[in-house]
Parts: sequence; C-alpha cells; structure tokens
Amino acid sequence: MQYLDIHTHILPGVDDGAKDMETAITLLEMLKEQGVTEVIVTPHFYPDTDSAEEFAEFTGKAYNDLKNEIAHKDLPRIFLGCELRYFSGMGKSHAIKQFVISGTNYLLLELPYGAPVTKTVLQDIIDISERQGLVPILAHIERYAKVSGFKKLLKLISDGYAISHINAGAVVTKETARLCENLIKKGYVSYMASDTHSPEHRPPQIKQALDVITDRLGRSAANRLIIKSNRLLEEIEGADE
Ligand SMILES: [Fe+2]
Repeated sequence: MQYLDIHTHILPGVDDGAKDMETAITLLEMLKEQGVTEVIVTPHFYPDTDSAEEFAEFTGKAYNDLKNEIAHKDLPRIFLGCELRYFSGMGKSHAIKQFVISGTNYLLLELPYGAPVTKTVLQDIIDISERQGLVPILAHIERYAKVSGFKKLLKLISDGYAISHINAGAVVTKETARLCENLIKKGYVSYMASDTHSPEHRPPQIKQALDVITDRLGRSAANRLIIKSNRLLEEIEGADE
C-alpha cells in the first residue's frame, strides 16, 4: 500500500515544524511507521510578512538537504509544496502559481484561523479555480466548522471550486472526531494529512486515524482516502516527467 501525506512541516529549520535535520529524520521514521510512503513537505508561507524569493531559496535549500540526507535511507520519498496563507485578492494574483504542490495545479490553502469566511474569501477561492485553473485544497477544513460562512465554504466544495483535507489528529481527538466523520460521510473530504510539526507536539497519526475511520465508517471510507492520496501521487509523478 502507498500513502501520500499531503501536508507536513518537516523541512529542517524553515518554519514552526522540524527544528533540525535529526527531527526531520525522526518525523520521516514516524511517518513510515504509520504506513506513509510519500510525503509532501509544506512549509508555511505568510504573504504579509515573507518574501517569496527568500522563501523559494530557503525552502529549496532545506528540501535538497533533506533529500540528500535520505537518499540512501529506507524512508518515505519527499516532494516540495507549500502551505499558503490566504490573502485578500489572491484569486487575481498570478504570483500564487509559484506555491503549487510539486509541479501540479494543486494549491494547499490555509484560511485564517477563527476568521469568518467572507464573500471576498469565497470569491477568491472561486477565482483561484476559475481564473487561474488551480485546484485549491482547503487545509484542515474541520478547523473552520465554527466560523460563520462555513456552510458556504462547503458549498464551494460541492460546486467543484475547491477540495479539502482533514487532519489525522482531528480524527483521533474526541472533540472533533464526530465532525470529521460527518465531513467524510458527506463527501467533503478528499485527503487526510498529518500536518505534523514535531514528534512531541504534533506527531503524525495517519494510521490511528485510518483505523478510526475504518471502525466508524467502514473499510471503503478509509480506502477512498488512500486511493485519493495515490491519485495525487500519480499526478505529481506525471508532472515530474
Ligand atoms: Fe500546516
């Protein structure tokens, strides 16, 4: 079985994830134990404060360092992506294309935590899809369940303007487990990712989460998430050729 984890913070020393190479390797070992065979590294990019050029240089170097470090180790393969924080007007900004996942049309998009989903946000997401031909993946969709406009966000998914992922950690957490189940059941969730940051505070929990989903929603629900991750991997590999 292959499993692509689409959201991780394991690049050494670039964001609030793995602090050094040793931690990055530990996280990759933990991911492997969880059945993860491929990993997209998605360091945070904050358009308000970060420079795109410096980000590209810094993450590119960290990515190559990590790739070299694991070249002869039996660890998951890595691909370069980014977790792009929402900014107003991004639907019309062609600059966002540089933040796609590893040569594909997929853009991992983080909405501001706790902020309402306004008309502007919704329109930007539609524009990312329609005007720019990108596929916005709404990161950890379960996080926005309590903000106003959440239902409209879900409608964008059913209308085909965006897709989403949930965090494995939310599936195995009592307070958010039922919410995640409902989102999966209703077809709003394409992927389940670890969003891992550190072995202690945000460890990868893919296997536990798949087990919970199998228990609660049946084997086919877990399989659908696995298959979706494999399809994205195929697109990444296709883009690579
Ligand atoms: Fe993240």
